[in-house]
Amino acid sequence: MSTATERRLSGAGSLALEVARGGRTGLAKVTDMAWRRRVFRLVVGLWAAGACGVSCMVDSLAADANYEEAAVGTYTLPDVLAGPDGRPATSAADWADRCRPHQLALLEANVYGRRLPPTLVSVVGDPERADVTLAGGVRATRLQVRLKLAGKPEAPAADVLLYLPQSGRPVPVFLNLNFKGNQAEHSDPAIWLTRAWLPNDEKSGIVGNRATEASRAANARRWPVEAMVARGYGVATACYGDIFPDKPDGRAESVLATLGRPVDGDLAPDEPGAIAAWAWGLSRILDWLVRQPEIDATRVIVVGHSRNGKAALWAGACDERFAMVVSNESGCGGAALERRNYGETTADITRRFPHWFCPKYSTFAGRAAEMPTDQHVLLAMAAPRPLYVASAIEDRWADPRGEFLAAVEAGPAWKLFGIEGLGTSEWPPVDTPVGGGRIGYHVRSGGHDLLECDWQRFADFADRHLGVVEPVAATGEFRPVQQPLPAAPPPGAIVLFGAGEEPPAFTSMAGSPIDWKVENGTLVVNTTNGHANHIVSRARFQDADIHAEFMVAAEAHGNSGIYIHGHYEMQIYDSFGVEPPTEQDEGSLYRFGPPLVNASRPVGEWQVYDIRFIAPRRDASGRIVKVGSVTAWLNGKLVQDGLMFTEPRSPYIPYRHGVTDYLRGIESEMRRTGRGPLFLQDHGSPTRFRNVWIRPL
Ligand code: GCU
Repeated sequence: MSTATERRLSGAGSLALEVARGGRTGLAKVTDMAWRRRVFRLVVGLWAAGACGVSCMVDSLAADANYEEAAVGTYTLPDVLAGPDGRPATSAADWADRCRPHQLALLEANVYGRRLPPTLVSVVGDPERADVTLAGGVRATRLQVRLKLAGKPEAPAADVLLYLPQSGRPVPVFLNLNFKGNQAEHSDPAIWLTRAWLPNDEKSGIVGNRATEASRAANARRWPVEAMVARGYGVATACYGDIFPDKPDGRAESVLATLGRPVDGDLAPDEPGAIAAWAWGLSRILDWLVRQPEIDATRVIVVGHSRNGKAALWAGACDERFAMVVSNESGCGGAALERRNYGETTADITRRFPHWFCPKYSTFAGRAAEMPTDQHVLLAMAAPRPLYVASAIEDRWADPRGEFLAAVEAGPAWKLFGIEGLGTSEWPPVDTPVGGGRIGYHVRSGGHDLLECDWQRFADFADRHLGVVEPVAATGEFRPVQQPLPAAPPPGAIVLFGAGEEPPAFTSMAGSPIDWKVENGTLVVNTTNGHANHIVSRARFQDADIHAEFMVAAEAHGNSGIYIHGHYEMQIYDSFGVEPPTEQDEGSLYRFGPPLVNASRPVGEWQVYDIRFIAPRRDASGRIVKVGSVTAWLNGKLVQDGLMFTEPRSPYIPYRHGVTDYLRGIESEMRRTGRGPLFLQDHGSPTRFRNVWIRPL
């Protein structure tokens, strides 16, 4: 048994929850009893439904759920770090290569369904833009845009509403889906009334499944625009009903239909449901957000309340471009551990909302112990990015303590990156945020809702981990000449490898001579199974223009890269014809931003990168005080235009993966001086290089 399953959990007060040490007989017994109790409640619930309608059944279910900690039972959690053969990850790279994909696949197969492919997002009509003064004199820019999420004419469109601070520089943004339309989120009368199908709610002005004028500002307490804008954050929202109308037969009108997924009949066990669709929609909105010059693409935070919190967590798991992930009271199928018999259970949720999950999930009703995954795994998918989990003490249906315990149990994923997770296993008192590391948590007083005080804690946490920081001042225009090739180095350039006459000005990862071959004036990656036979420039620089000509091979997808300072990688990959290119395709700053256009050439052709790299600036403690940026041209096309970045995101950075003493020395010197080397990456493909130079700025 692994250490993760052996770990003991302890809650606040006298209740110590024990994770069973393999006591399978005991476990089965608890599950059995719990299941019998649930069946009894269901019978009572159905009787109540017959007598007084469906809402009575819902109330009866909620009232009848187990709310006694003593009856939660014992349980064994699956090891969050395990790979396909059960062996736990031993390093960040091992996690990224072997274990994270396995854990993500378990969530796909058993809970949310297969991930949906990216599509091209287009804007319908003209975005509407206005400078507005909000309550309290807060100045903001309001933007409204209608996005066709799946490109095709028949695809559903989502209306996105944003308020951005007028700070003159790209801002971090909180993105969330809302329940009743954008007009319900704020009192601004200019907000477009949603056209989405919505569950009726007369009190909130939703009648005949459509929003009426009476729905304006009905949920405004949930979206404190003024407070966030005043803190320097933009806020963006869209209605979940635009993506998947929240009803069991909503598939046919949802994006799933446009994406060619079946809408009726027997669905495959891992056929995605509404949560997968909402999460996918968040990513498509992100596709548009990252292209807006006023938005800092590297600091978009996905937030969600309740069912939309489940979707936010799944979006953060599937799309690592979200810089931070926030779950508010997402409960069952969200942040709460499934194996605890407390509040809502798999049986409850799949009966009332059969369309939210993949069909396989409902087979675990009353058998949570048999699930090969659990919700701490979902939380771990956010690692190493900052994650915030919020509960409310009276929201027992969502199992606040179960949400906390999942956050504790997700921690080992951050530890692999040398980062603390939550930093405590004691359930904190109400209204006392905790989170010594990169996971934050609070349990608010009061019931199921999303309030300004929750948002303030999210923003405190984002301030701490994403930092509202200035970019380094821009340098002049950057318009390199990229043809004809080979290009000659300009005056002032330090040539790292020219036409093959001089030995390459690189060392190995250990500081010794390189073992890459020079063939016909080109330098060829000497590939290794460990993918860590990179070469390291002797020259050190802070900001620089970097030029490299390269040719990808067919092996291993042509994978290689220009690893600047060993922290930030301009991707080299066989991405010819890939549409839309992602943040892992050629032209991307790996894991930070996709290329603006796909400029890749096919395998076997010479290609050229010119990159203007502006390094981030750090204070004496190593904290980034000014973000870095890249502008890059690939094969004559602008692929990055001042994309900003903060801490390195790749699990493969050479100071972690395949590190040597020589590199440890380089990294600590770089932390001190801000100056570092250029790496050419071995990622298993014999990429060829020529004409590699840097011109320090
Ligand atoms: C129901 C459901 C929860 C969900 C919540 C919401 O209560 O049972 O799982 O989180 O609705 O989305 O408001």
